[in-house]
Amino acid sequence: MITGTKVTLRMFEESDLDAYAKIVNNLSNATPYWPSGLQPKANLKKEFSENSFWKDDYKLLLVTDKDGKMIGEVDTFKSSPNIKGPEVGFRMFEKKNMGRGFMSEALRLFSAYLFQTDSTYLRLTLLIHSKNTASLKVAEKCGYKKEGTLRNAWADYSTGIPHSDEILSLLRDESPSLIDLLQKQ
Ligand SMILES: CC(C)(COP(=O)(O)OP(=O)(O)OC[C@H]1O[C@@H](n2cnc3c(N)ncnc32)[C@H](O)[C@@H]1OP(=O)(O)O)[C@@H](O)C(=O)NCCC(=O)NCCS
Repeated sequence: MITGTKVTLRMFEESDLDAYAKIVNNLSNATPYWPSGLQPKANLKKEFSENSFWKDDYKLLLVTDKDGKMIGEVDTFKSSPNIKGPEVGFRMFEKKNMGRGFMSEALRLFSAYLFQTDSTYLRLTLLIHSKNTASLKVAEKCGYKKEGTLRNAWADYSTGIPHSDEILSLLRDESPSLIDLLQKQ
């Protein structure tokens, strides 16, 4: 568990499955910049029973508020094989919790945690839709720097219209240490 001033990051527990399945399958929470397909609870349960959402090439932490309510998630997944460090993803679940500084703190803590726990990581990578202003702002507030644009990176599921992503990275020596972050609170 990683406890900040506004949020806590913690591992997923079996007892989270019901609430999590409800959140991710409530398409009223869908936003333009996050895949919004339905995920059967049975599939989530099966995957959780296999790896607890914590394996070499995929790690998920829940973000909770001070009352312990699940408000978002951060994750990592493998990027291109030669890149020394994973790609990072993040999202808040509900609009009512956005814009309150939660994800800026969560991403800063998560990034520091990742560097602290794997000495092979040279960098963390984010791919963010070029028009996702809030997400770009969160990344920049956490020290990530823009490297370029992945043009026509993916296509909209329903229309096929291509979208571009900005590539951002945080290098090991650009991240505060987790201990420093936790002590400064
Ligand atoms: C992007 C997202 C993770 C941001 O989380 P959050 O907890 O709301 O972010 P924070 O409150 O920590 O910070 C948001 C910053 O962006 C700013 N912001 C928010 N919306 C903005 C907009 N439309 N234009 C410009 N800035 C914006 C906020 O003012 C804030 O900056 P500030 O602290 O300097 O005032 C959240 O909105 C989200 O989950 N969106 C949907 C899914 C998504 O896009 N995930 C990311 C995919 S890469």
